[in-house]
Amino acid sequence: MANKKIVLGITGGIAAYKAAELVRLLQKNNIDVQVVMTQAACQFITPVTMQALSGKPVFIDMWDASIANGMPHIELSRQVDAIVIAPASADFLAKIVHGGADDLLSTLCLARDCPLLVAPAMNKQMWENPATQRNIAQLQADGISILGPDSGEQACGEIGLGRMLEAQDLCDLVYAHLSPKPLNGQRILITAGPTLEMIDPVRAITNLSSGKMGYAIAQAAFEMGAEVTLVSGATALKPPLGVNNISAISAENMYQTVMQNVANQNIFIGVAAVADYSPATKHSQKIKKSEQTLSIALNKNKDILADVASLPNAPFCVGFAAESENLLEYAESKRKAKKLPLIVANLASDAMGSDENQVTLLDKNGAHPLANAPKIAVARGILQHIAKCISSP
Ligand code: C5P
Repeated sequence: MANKKIVLGITGGIAAYKAAELVRLLQKNNIDVQVVMTQAACQFITPVTMQALSGKPVFIDMWDASIANGMPHIELSRQVDAIVIAPASADFLAKIVHGGADDLLSTLCLARDCPLLVAPAMNKQMWENPATQRNIAQLQADGISILGPDSGEQACGEIGLGRMLEAQDLCDLVYAHLSPKPLNGQRILITAGPTLEMIDPVRAITNLSSGKMGYAIAQAAFEMGAEVTLVSGATALKPPLGVNNISAISAENMYQTVMQNVANQNIFIGVAAVADYSPATKHSQKIKKSEQTLSIALNKNKDILADVASLPNAPFCVGFAAESENLLEYAESKRKAKKLPLIVANLASDAMGSDENQVTLLDKNGAHPLANAPKIAVARGILQHIAKCISSP
């Protein structure tokens, strides 16, 4: 994504402290941030903090003579790709519903010619109040994006809906909003993580997959406009926002879940490290350690990816090959055996559990290496290649 710019508007609420972390995360993602605060916001976090983090002067005052032409409300909104209000207080939301413009931030919202995204933050009774709910419905009808709110413990000690989303979630949603959408209208089914094959109630066969690569692909597919269904194996990761997540712990469970959801999918990406075998007998009670040696008979599991690829009207199927040697050779033979248009080859030592990955894409035109990078960047690269493949097969 080419460099983008936003105005981050901060209004008066205790969640204003999360805006400091949000600025840092947005900048890490090459999103340039101009902070504008209301007077009330300055009671919760200082402009000095926001200025130090954003590296730019913070604007608060309508009558700030330092902004070009003496027209800050026009000047600030014309230079940016979006205005993001985080936190957005109940009062500020009520004001912009009616086109109120009595301070710099609300005037900026009224005069904007770019998208507006708001992250509500308030006590649960304030959020549930019919007045707030009417305002939210009106803002949605006006094309304003509502980010959250989340549910959980609130500053006042109550528990419920109204918490502002965490900075990382907000950053991901803003990034997705600003991203190009080459996968608009595409439905993508993704498997991720390891499977768990139970031996008895407390023991299982699994592998070292963390699920991070599959989750990164799901997040990148959502950013690029796809409708994403993620079938997750045994991982503790938090599913990306905007993705339909279905948990499937064993290989058989994952097979059934994929088959139930594959109809009408345009793309299937098998990232999961599915166990090749599972115990022939599942003991209902814990096995006692009485014997000197113990043998467990294993049955071969069905290959989800190969079966999806051989369906009539199969989606565009993408596999992953994690190998410890002869990477490209083994990956290419897997691609042919499973009849896949595309396979992603990576060394198990690079991929398993780490936050970065180095992959090579193999298709009918040969090998396309991608640079070593964080998994989210690699995921974006893989999906850009898939978008190209399906637009010109
Ligand atoms: O395990 P293998 O190396 O054959 O995995 C290659 C690809 O096949 C991966 O994309 C994996 O998700 C998929 N696979 C599957 N079902 C299996 C085994 C592998 O979908 N039972």
